[in-house]
Formats: sequence, C-alpha cells, structure tokens
Amino acid sequence: MGSILNIRTFYDQARTLLPPDLFHFIDGGSCDEHTLKRNSAATHRLLILPRILQCTKNITTTVPLFEDTIAAPLLIAPTAYQRLLHHDGELATLNAANRFNTIFIVSMFSSTDYGEIAANAKMPLWLQMYLLKDRKPNLRLIRRAEELGYKALVLTVDAPVYGKREREMTSPLQFPNHINFSHINDLGIPFDDCPHSTAHFANLIDPAIGWQDVEWLATVTDLPIILKGVLDPRDTAIALTHPNVKGIIVSNHGGRQLDETVSAFDVMEDHRGVAGKKLMLFLDGGISRGSDIFKAIALGADAALIGRASLWALAVRGSDGVLRALTLLQEELQNVMALTGCSQIKDITRDFIWKD
Ligand SMILES: Cc1cc2nc3c(=O)[nH]c(=O)nc-3n(C[C@H](O)[C@H](O)[C@H](O)COP(=O)(O)O)c2cc1C
Repeated sequence: MGSILNIRTFYDQARTLLPPDLFHFIDGGSCDEHTLKRNSAATHRLLILPRILQCTKNITTTVPLFEDTIAAPLLIAPTAYQRLLHHDGELATLNAANRFNTIFIVSMFSSTDYGEIAANAKMPLWLQMYLLKDRKPNLRLIRRAEELGYKALVLTVDAPVYGKREREMTSPLQFPNHINFSHINDLGIPFDDCPHSTAHFANLIDPAIGWQDVEWLATVTDLPIILKGVLDPRDTAIALTHPNVKGIIVSNHGGRQLDETVSAFDVMEDHRGVAGKKLMLFLDGGISRGSDIFKAIALGADAALIGRASLWALAVRGSDGVLRALTLLQEELQNVMALTGCSQIKDITRDFIWKD
C-alpha cells in the first residue's frame, strides 16, 4: 500500500481496473460536467495563509460529532451499489469506517442489506433516503433504520429528478446478476431494473418533494434529519425552522445533478453565517486532499465528506484501500495543520484563508 501516495493514485489505478461503464458511472457528472470540474477547481481558488512559530505539537484531528467522537472531520458519503466495485461492497467500506473511527452513510440503494451492515457496525450509522412517490417504502425504510439502530436519516433533496448524465447515456451501467437487492425489494421498491437510469428514477422518485415532507418526517420518526444537497443559504435558513433537521450537507451531489451550480466551497461560509451554532454543517464534493478538509473547516464546516475518493479506493483494494484513503487524508490534514500552526481542529479558523 506504500506505493499509494495520494487519492489520485487510487483514481489512476481504478481507471485501468474498472470496466468503462462502471468507471463512467462513478466518474461522470451531468451535462458538460462544469460543476464536477468546479468542485475541484473551487478548492484551489482558496489559498491558505499559514501562521508560523505557533509551538504546534501533539496534533490531533479528532472531533465531536453529535454524541460521538470521530478520528477526523471526515465522513463517508452515501454511494449506491458498492458491490459493483468490490465483492465485499458496503461491508468493506463499513469495515474501514470501523477501523478508522468515522461515520459511514449508507445509501438507500445499498447493494448490501441494511441489517447486515448494522450487525457489523462499530460506529454510528446514518441511512440516506430519497423520497418516493409511494411513501410506504420510505416508511418501511425508516422503521428498519430505527429497529436496526441507525442514528440519523439523511434526506437527499437535490434529486427530484435524475441529472442528465451523458456518460451514463453513452455507456449504460450493466448490472451483474450476482448482486442481491432483496432488501430493497422488501421495502416494496421494484428493483428488476437499474434505478440509476432516467426512466426508472423518474418512476420512483417524487419530483414534488417539498418542505411539507420534512414536516411529515417529524410526524413519523424521531430520528434526526440531515438534509443532503443544499446549496443556497436561504434553504439553510428555512431548515432552521424545522426542529427535526439537525444538519445540512452542503453539496451539489458530486456534480451529478444540476450542472452549472456553485460548489460547496463557494457557499460554505454563508451557510455557517446563517446557521450559527444551531446546525451541524458538512461540506461535500471535490475532497481529495487533506488541505481540502482544512479549507472546509476554515470556512465553517464541522466535517467534510468523501464520495468518489472512497469508491476508487474500494475498487482498488477493498476495505484496506478505503482505510488507506481515509488515513492518507488524515495524515495530509495533520501535515497541513503542522504547517499552519494548528494543534486541534478548533484552531482552524477563517483567518487561514487568504482574502484577495
Ligand atoms: C457512484 C456514485 C453513487 C452515488 N450514490 C448516491 C446515493 O445513492 N445517494 C446520495 O445521496 N448520493 C449519492 N452520490 C453522491 C455522493 O453522496 C456525494 O454527494 C458525491 O460523491 C460527493 O462528491 P465527490 O465524489 O467529489 O466526493 C453518489 C455518488 C457517486 C459518485
């Protein structure tokens, strides 16, 4: 594993390893992929202004997160169908999260049963959910999440319809027969076809999702709600009026939904301005270096999420790969902290970002 120097190495290796349909399913964004490109460009536009002679020692990256403490301000984003990438799929990712000590957000379209994941979890789990036209499968999923001890529901709000993903259109994802989706069928979701196609997604997902649905969730579950896919700080302001919403994932879905949007890095600071200390805020999209996490924290995020970075690592080396990816990012973050004069995550403030 020593030859893997950074997330880019995982990407390069996954690219040669994966069949083209799968590679493009993961790598691709929507339309011209401007937002996808902006996610990495936006972080490079932010420059770090380091301090010197700060007597920095005993650097620690641990942070509190709700009732827990995690090893670094770094979570694993929900991504569908991980068994397409590695035979252990979500269990490999989970195992890495267990060993690293962080939270793995399980996708509603997990290719491993939610119960099997919960049975192997040593860290709190969050379950991601899309809202369906037929709410009964949502209710069943919520009940399962509660029974299995999931600690939060992540409601994805940036996908009322499927993004126009042109790479998927030209290279449609092939589903091998050996992957079992009976846990999704059991919810009452027809899964005889790939839901990650425009037509199937359109049949399933409720395009009319609204704030009334966030209110509805409060009437059916006590689980804390985290909204995923918020970009406009005005929406964070509305979220503050919903007591069941405890966190916001500032995200453009890894550039896979609406093209030509801002990136989370562009607006993070404004979300913190609106939310104050009342909500946990997460930055999602384009994280591939410890310096990206540093900048996210400086702009006011409590933690950052990785999507593709964990998937490339999963494809290349399974659980050890994902652990290596997490550890690499943590080590890079520690390095940045040492070079900027920060001993603890709470030392990372807005002052470290240069204003031009
Ligand atoms: C292959 C793939 C599958 C994804 N599946 C889901 C999903 O099921 N639910 C969801 O809310 N987001 C999903 N996402 C979006 C991620 O949660 C995350 O927002 C995005 O990957 C972050 O950008 P990054 O890949 O640059 O880190 C998926 C992303 C990818 C690349």
